[in-house]
Amino acid sequence: MRIPIIAGNWKMNKTVTEGLNLVKELKGVEENTDVEVVVCPPFLHLSEVKNELKNTDIKIGAQNMHWEKNGAYTGEVSPEMLSEMGIDYVIIGHSERREYFNETDETVNKKIKSAIDYGIKPIVCVGETLDEREAKKANEKVKKQILKGFEGIDKEDMKNIVIAYEPIWAIGTGKTASSKEANEMISFIRNIVKEKYGLDISEELRIQYGGSVKPHNVIEIMNETDIDGALVGGASLKAKDFKEIINF
Ligand code: 13P
Repeated sequence: MRIPIIAGNWKMNKTVTEGLNLVKELKGVEENTDVEVVVCPPFLHLSEVKNELKNTDIKIGAQNMHWEKNGAYTGEVSPEMLSEMGIDYVIIGHSERREYFNETDETVNKKIKSAIDYGIKPIVCVGETLDEREAKKANEKVKKQILKGFEGIDKEDMKNIVIAYEPIWAIGTGKTASSKEANEMISFIRNIVKEKYGLDISEELRIQYGGSVKPHNVIEIMNETDIDGALVGGASLKAKDFKEIINF
């Protein structure tokens, strides 16, 4: 059985103080649910948030990382640094990183491999633009992202990976893919994984939906057979909303 995973991607929001206030309010939410809860604050917040959540089951994720262990990469954060801190997850290949910071399927691939080497679980984001969807190219785009992104990744490693399907046109826009559209794409992704890694791995893999997930639409999304959780942006910034989503 796949345990649902709901992760809050704070993006570039909240000061450290504000972030700590938010996680203080979240504490305990994980105790009455079968959902795995993850918060992904900015790098600067990770240490203090980790400390604040130390006696809870809420997991912590970074929003990005470099693939190299260390080196002359001004402004970057390495997997070794995250791993020493005990960071559980890392979001890789978010569409905003692909769009604004030249992230490609090749860099996504390097980052997935590196995260696995350091024992950090990747949440790998894929998704199409509105133009691609309207041109009926969404499946092709997502398939390419998966096949290139996961090149050389072993079957065994897939057990520690989460995929997040985030249609770009639904991020921060208030538009969600209908739960049926999201489920169709997520089944399609599961099928690609089945072809590459076999039925067992594809059935174990958790695939989240992301894009304007809110308290009012989470139930419908989570009721779909293939959707195993949500990657939540805006609504993860308010404790009340994020808790409602977790307790869907
Ligand atoms: P919103 O929930 O704000 O649409 O963001 C989704 C997202 O990009 C999560 O990674």
